[in-house]
Amino acid sequence: MARPSLFQRATVTRIVKESVDARTFVLAPHDGPISYIAGQFCTFKVTVDGTELYRAYSMSSAPETDGELMTTVKRVPGGAVSNWMHDNLGEGDEVEVTRAAGRFCLRETDVPLLGFSGGSGITPILSLAKSALATTNRSVRLLCADRDADSVIFDTALKELAQKYPGRLEVIRHLDSTAGFLDAEAIKTFVGADGHGDSYICGPEAFMEMIELALPGPGLVHSERFGAAAPIPGETVEATPDTVVTAPVQSPSPTEAAVALGDVNITLKRKKKSVPRKEGETLLESARRAGFTPPFSCEAGNCATCMAKVTAGHATMRANQALTDDEVDDGYVLTCQAVPDSESITVDYDQ
Ligand SMILES: Cc1cc2nc3c(=O)[nH]c(=O)nc-3n(C[C@H](O)[C@H](O)[C@H](O)COP(=O)(O)OP(=O)(O)OC[C@H]3O[C@@H](n4cnc5c(N)ncnc54)[C@H](O)[C@@H]3O)c2cc1C
Ligand code: FES
Repeated sequence: MARPSLFQRATVTRIVKESVDARTFVLAPHDGPISYIAGQFCTFKVTVDGTELYRAYSMSSAPETDGELMTTVKRVPGGAVSNWMHDNLGEGDEVEVTRAAGRFCLRETDVPLLGFSGGSGITPILSLAKSALATTNRSVRLLCADRDADSVIFDTALKELAQKYPGRLEVIRHLDSTAGFLDAEAIKTFVGADGHGDSYICGPEAFMEMIELALPGPGLVHSERFGAAAPIPGETVEATPDTVVTAPVQSPSPTEAAVALGDVNITLKRKKKSVPRKEGETLLESARRAGFTPPFSCEAGNCATCMAKVTAGHATMRANQALTDDEVDDGYVLTCQAVPDSESITVDYDQ
């Protein structure tokens, strides 16, 4: 099988200023519409000062309600890509984007949707809200925290949605500048005594942890971490009164037990390098140790930016939320998650 095409070019057709430091980039992918589910993200490849960088950006559009593909990017102080996009991307420019990925998505249910956003975390939550309002009878209640009034994103869009779906969308705004940081009491008050609903949380890490702990349950809790690390197999990564997410454990390969340490042979951009295999090291880490600058973004098994093909040997992925079964059968791995369990292994980023 030919290498599954991961990146495609897309033209920025429109740029919308959403707040002092957030812009929506409307994209027209060259190979036709990107198929996605509300709440998913694409990974962007951009070249900043001669270096290729990869970053994930969630869709603020929803497939059921928007004809255009939109991502909304907030400047991160000192951040390479977010600032480059704000300062350099203009209408008519091109970027490279992956197919959509991610599991921060709606399930089939009638229970209320409770959304908790901090700053740019509103992006996938707006997408989920649009989708739920358009395709179900669910009520949607959002608690949106922002630094100050100038930082608020999607105020008009959410007001328009509330008018379009009378009685079904409630948006509570919280400004740190006037009320300090949100706390557990505020979360419990927002959720109410019965805690009924599926919760979707996206924002800065401390904000998310506070809400995960404060949610009284019952109800499922979905969290999207903009800077998440990969869970360790079998380890419980998140526990709330009603949510326990455990990283999948893959069965050991026949060669896994106490294999000798051979070499990791890597091809990237037609250059070949080898390094001695190190126990427990991912293929991505080996490629870096070999002196390559391999592609990666989430390092959590979510985006497929680090995909490569194992052409000899065997590796087991700690997590895989991005490759299809067919791609895995064809030897593709997420190098950020794949740990060799054969003595030597050969991996090709170009195939
Ligand atoms: C699934 C997912 C979806 C996402 N969706 C969105 C979205 O919809 N909208 C959005 O705006 N963002 C989103 N993000 C976040 C986005 O991918 C980027 O992480 C974000 O834009 C910051 O990237 P950057 O290149 O600007 O910053 P980076 O260059 O990655 O820097 C991040 C921070 O680290 C600091 N830093 C960088 N290098 C160093 C160093 N050497 N020493 C010390 N500090 C350093 C920077 O100052 C900055 O504060 C998402 C992330 C994920 C994983
Ligand atoms: S870097 Fe995202 S799956 Fe590996």
